[in-house]
Amino acid sequence: MEAPQIFHKDPSTFRTAPNLNNYEDTRKSFSWDDVADKEIAFFPDGKLNAAYIAVDRHLNTDLASKVALYWEGDNGEKEIFTYRDIAHRSNQFGNLLKKKGVRRGDRVFIFLPRVPLLYISFLGTLKIGAIAGTLFSAFQEQALFDRLENSGAKILVTNKDLSTRIEKIRGKLPNLSDVLVVDDPNFSAQLTSQENSLEIEHMEKDDYAFMLYTSGTTGKPKGVVHKHYAILSQHLTAKFVLDIHKDDIYWCTADPGWVTGISYEILGSWSSGATQVVYSGRFDTEKWYQILQDYKVSIWYTAPTAIRMLMAKGEEVVKRFSLSNLRHILSVGEPLNPEAIRWGLKAFGLPFHDTWWQTETGCMVLVNFPCTDIKIGSMGRPFLGIDAEIVDDNGNPLPTGTEGNIALIPGWPSMMQTIWNNEEKYKSYFVNGWYISGDRGWKDADGYFWFVGRADDVIKTSGERVGPFEVESALVEHPAVVEAGVIGKPDEVRGEIIKAFIVLKPNVTPSDLLKEELSQHVKKHLAGHAYPREIEFIDKLPKTRSGKIMRRILKAKEMGMPIGDTSTLEEY
Ligand code: PRX
Repeated sequence: MEAPQIFHKDPSTFRTAPNLNNYEDTRKSFSWDDVADKEIAFFPDGKLNAAYIAVDRHLNTDLASKVALYWEGDNGEKEIFTYRDIAHRSNQFGNLLKKKGVRRGDRVFIFLPRVPLLYISFLGTLKIGAIAGTLFSAFQEQALFDRLENSGAKILVTNKDLSTRIEKIRGKLPNLSDVLVVDDPNFSAQLTSQENSLEIEHMEKDDYAFMLYTSGTTGKPKGVVHKHYAILSQHLTAKFVLDIHKDDIYWCTADPGWVTGISYEILGSWSSGATQVVYSGRFDTEKWYQILQDYKVSIWYTAPTAIRMLMAKGEEVVKRFSLSNLRHILSVGEPLNPEAIRWGLKAFGLPFHDTWWQTETGCMVLVNFPCTDIKIGSMGRPFLGIDAEIVDDNGNPLPTGTEGNIALIPGWPSMMQTIWNNEEKYKSYFVNGWYISGDRGWKDADGYFWFVGRADDVIKTSGERVGPFEVESALVEHPAVVEAGVIGKPDEVRGEIIKAFIVLKPNVTPSDLLKEELSQHVKKHLAGHAYPREIEFIDKLPKTRSGKIMRRILKAKEMGMPIGDTSTLEEY
């Protein structure tokens, strides 16, 4: 193996002294319990509330009148909210929920694009001790039904446009007592008539705060549940990895339908006192540079697919904008290719700092800090207070340099608390005292981790996690389809695209038109982002003798690779 290229950090060139200036030393003496009192605010009774820690605790400081959110909509609409505004509005939201009969532990799901009320309703829900769930705005009926049904959600917060998708399934959701439509003038009147002060619920560390559905290889998506105490990890990673300082303007391009948008666009980022930018529009190269320029963004957290899309438009476009405020850039969600880091250096004079984590981990886990050297292509090293290792399938640590499962010692504050209504699934993550991530990788002699791939069939397309089973289930609902096998096919820009292998009913004639129809079918019924961009009709799917589709074989064939051990296969 070639020696990796290293990007050395020279502290004398730092524009801002990093919040963490010595990783190795701090790590040696670090304990979560030691830092908790200093970093987050407990109530005098020793309890806490993540929303209070994120926003309201700042009201006693000079942050109260500082801008918390610069919001820009897709049609250029702009709104500005201070920390006080966000605190008061989320209080009003909490009061309204209480009037609607929402109690501690009830689930309130939010199905909104990135409008200010998404952030406000999320915080309002946590403040009254209810559990917030977010739903990505590309979801369609099937994806929505699965999540709302499994969670037993009591309230859905949405807008006029998206609410039409709910109408068709509402009759099948007996627990859903209210749908709040935020752009309905009646709703606005109700909300603004609420008191802007609220008795914030005091929660135990382990009480549930929010949940997110995420995909695995088999079955429907699972509800990953996070607790209030997770805010400690989210806060500290925002402080030490995002390196948020008082004067920074921070832009995270994620959507709170996914975990990055919750941990680092609501909880950890505001807890660290960030002034943040939210742009609700679609990806557009020039618009993105304009946002970086106009809002004087200094810290930017984005994803490899977006970086590759920017790269495709070239460096010249970058040079037309004045991005001199930018000082720290980071990436998450899928492998960050070395070329993307090198391009970042050319285009912005800064290296992208890779961070690795998952919905289940709740916070960044393997990271590159502002103060540490970057080995280009590596995901970095474990965050303070988190122990990571490479282990075999029985949970035995493997020697340096050997590929295996990326595993963590359970117990950091933002490790998922449970899988909603599925203790068995929760337990299945742990082997021999390790939390097994489902990713494969290896560790080098300096303790840097390198990503190899998923251990299962989970697909990452444009950084979004998609379970093949959900897509297969949507495809077989179509009358022309007998069965379907779905894989992630490597793609230069999107990381992977979804490819479906489909067996048609005997009387159906394959055609390009039918392929298009099948893609549209998934887009319309499951989700706008989780449809197959490629479809191939085949006579038969490779299966085990017990009838399980062998996606591994479909993938190997697709990529012209050896198909490996086929001894468990039915004849193929
Ligand atoms: O496979 C890994 C990939 O994304 C998965 C987690 O996806 P999700 O739960 O949607 O959370 C994404 C945002 C935190 C991981 O199991 N992944 C995440 N970050 C990286 C990555 N793969 C390679 N490099 C990364 N930096």
